[in-house]
Amino acid sequence: MTTLTVDEVLTTTRAVRRRMDPSRPVDLDTVIECLDIAVQAPSGGNIQRVRWMVVTDPGIRASLALLYREAIAIAMGEQRQPATDKVRSAARHLGDILQDVPVLVLVYGVGAPPPNPYRVPGFYGSIIPAIWNFQLALRSRGLGSVYTSSLNRRDSEVSALLGVPDDMTQVAMIPVGHTIGTDFRPAPRPPIEEIAFFDHWGAARRHRARPPGTGARSSTIPETMEE
Ligand SMILES: Cc1cc2nc3c(=O)[nH]c(=O)nc-3n(C[C@H](O)[C@H](O)[C@H](O)COP(=O)(O)O)c2cc1C
Repeated sequence: MTTLTVDEVLTTTRAVRRRMDPSRPVDLDTVIECLDIAVQAPSGGNIQRVRWMVVTDPGIRASLALLYREAIAIAMGEQRQPATDKVRSAARHLGDILQDVPVLVLVYGVGAPPPNPYRVPGFYGSIIPAIWNFQLALRSRGLGSVYTSSLNRRDSEVSALLGVPDDMTQVAMIPVGHTIGTDFRPAPRPPIEEIAFFDHWGAARRHRARPPGTGARSSTIPETMEE
């Protein structure tokens, strides 16, 4: 376990791609410990609809990597609001090393997203908080991860490969590995004054300065190293 504070874990859990170290094996007991923590996340109606598939088999990882590379090639061609070159190149780099990342965790929701659009947030909102809990728990144990959704474009192929039943919805794939160094920093984000309003849309409020390391102001904090 690291000695990071809760706020440090919350503000430095980055999408680890370039700083993923595929050469170091990951202890599966640690992954299971993090899954135990993950499932403490809230879920709508306390219906436990999240399922996990932990892949370590090198042959299956290679097949997933192939599918992931196909998927990001399509995703990048389609993007209406293209990600920055840095993010695209990090996503491509992840594709290049994915077969070597020791643990790939596929995350599923039981059932299909509801047809009623008002209920869709409840479906994904009962899965994604658990994924983030998982990533935070990994970080606090010195492991890195990255939330990815691109492989969902190849969900039928993935399901066939892993024997996943038809009534599961693939939500994310989380590659997990040791990181190259552990000194991750808060990332640049929009200032709260621009995105949080009080009592009336557009009504911002200046806030007191945050303690160092607990917040990033896009105007004052330099860009983090690409993770
Ligand atoms: C819903 C979602 C989908 C994502 N899909 C991918 C992906 O397919 N491939 C990838 O390399 N990163 C993916 N990411 C990671 C983002 O690119 C990353 O979180 C973002 O660039 C911000 O970096 P940070 O998490 O280090 O702050 C995804 C993140 C989220 C939340």
